[in-house]
Amino acid sequence: MGEQFSKIGFVLAVAGSAIGLGACWKVPYIIGENGGSAFIILYFAMTLILGIPILLAEISMGCFAKSDPVNAFKNLATKGGNLWKFSGFTMIGGPIILSFYTMLIAWIIKYALISFTALPTSIESSRAFFLNFVSSDIISQIIFFSIAFFWIFYILSKGVKDGIEKVNLWLMPTFFVMMLGILFYSMTMKGFLPAVKYMLIPDFSKITLHAFLSALGLAFFTLSLGIGAIITYASSMSEDSNPLVTSIFVAVMNIVVALIMGFIIFTFIFEFNAEPSQGTGLTFISLPTLFGNLGLIGKILSLVFFVGLAFTAVTSAISLVEAPIRYFMKQFGMSRKKAIFYNAAFVYILGILCIVSNLNGSHLRIFGQDLTTVFDSFASNIIMPLGGLLVALFIVFSADKERFHAFFRKFVSEKIFNIWFFLIKFVAPICIIIIFLSALL
Ligand code: PHE
Repeated sequence: MGEQFSKIGFVLAVAGSAIGLGACWKVPYIIGENGGSAFIILYFAMTLILGIPILLAEISMGCFAKSDPVNAFKNLATKGGNLWKFSGFTMIGGPIILSFYTMLIAWIIKYALISFTALPTSIESSRAFFLNFVSSDIISQIIFFSIAFFWIFYILSKGVKDGIEKVNLWLMPTFFVMMLGILFYSMTMKGFLPAVKYMLIPDFSKITLHAFLSALGLAFFTLSLGIGAIITYASSMSEDSNPLVTSIFVAVMNIVVALIMGFIIFTFIFEFNAEPSQGTGLTFISLPTLFGNLGLIGKILSLVFFVGLAFTAVTSAISLVEAPIRYFMKQFGMSRKKAIFYNAAFVYILGILCIVSNLNGSHLRIFGQDLTTVFDSFASNIIMPLGGLLVALFIVFSADKERFHAFFRKFVSEKIFNIWFFLIKFVAPICIIIIFLSALL
């Protein structure tokens, strides 16, 4: 388990974990549903006052404990370690998210492949195409799901340095170049200016209590917090990495990517007079239609867009199961391959169930909802806020504060340490309890 990230490898791995379908798919459609720019400001604020402090807390915990989340809570507790260790089991959120995340990657692969064949040219045909694929084409979904699945677990089987670090080193920069390419293209379109206005001129009348809560939840999801993913990555961090610089860099990049994806998607939406507030279908229904109307250049853009999306999704996907893999290895003395096998089997079964649950007339539903919706709300609205809350409470009530103080003082001033501690002690728990209650009500 002694494998360590290089300094840059660690920053890219955390950025790779954070930046994913959250920033590229969830943020734009949630911005669309909440009326644009004012929501973005809220999301920034949540990232700053809640996301960065918890990210720093998780990095420090992983760096001290050098182990999976369960053992991190257990070993770092000054008292009650045997109870605190249960907080580490929030890591179950990772494989649950990964099941539908892999399904989304499967859809992305499918769309990348059809870029050169049959892009729909009207919203109606695009919607029909998407619904037909998702609700009746089980065979090709299982094939694409299996491709995405093997891709993810193959990388994981290579370990921290040759797997996770290497993939992030290549895929994250490639994704950036592809994204910037499409951004520059969209700047030449008429829809770009309205998109920038939509995203940057705030209209606070659109802010409801619900928008507040969505922004909080989104900050958590997009920074990979609350399920031990960052604790686990930080357990392989090298001594010379600077946690504050890493956290701020990752949070800023996450916001930059979300903004750029928003500019791109809304440029296309405004160019073709489509509707910004159409939910999850924004990426899979509107965009392909718009690409479909642009001839050859549209096909190229579509390919670049979906391949880039697949790359950034995969770098997040691999971080979703690293925590339970490490736990199985440490707790049950398993080899990495065996630990991967058990996690993979769990993800495969849940993922196939997600696919089946989307099929026409499927009875595989919980409270009338398809499994993707159920898993996503369970993980994002319950497990992640709970995990973040437990991290904050743990630091305040059980961890050795002096150790955190001494660690922080190596790279920040006393004042910054005090601000961090204030945010962890008061602001984070109160905000998280609000999200949590809102999810339950
Ligand atoms: N942050 C990832 C995204 O935005 C999802 C994720 C959540 C990854 C939690 C790891 C842990 O897509």
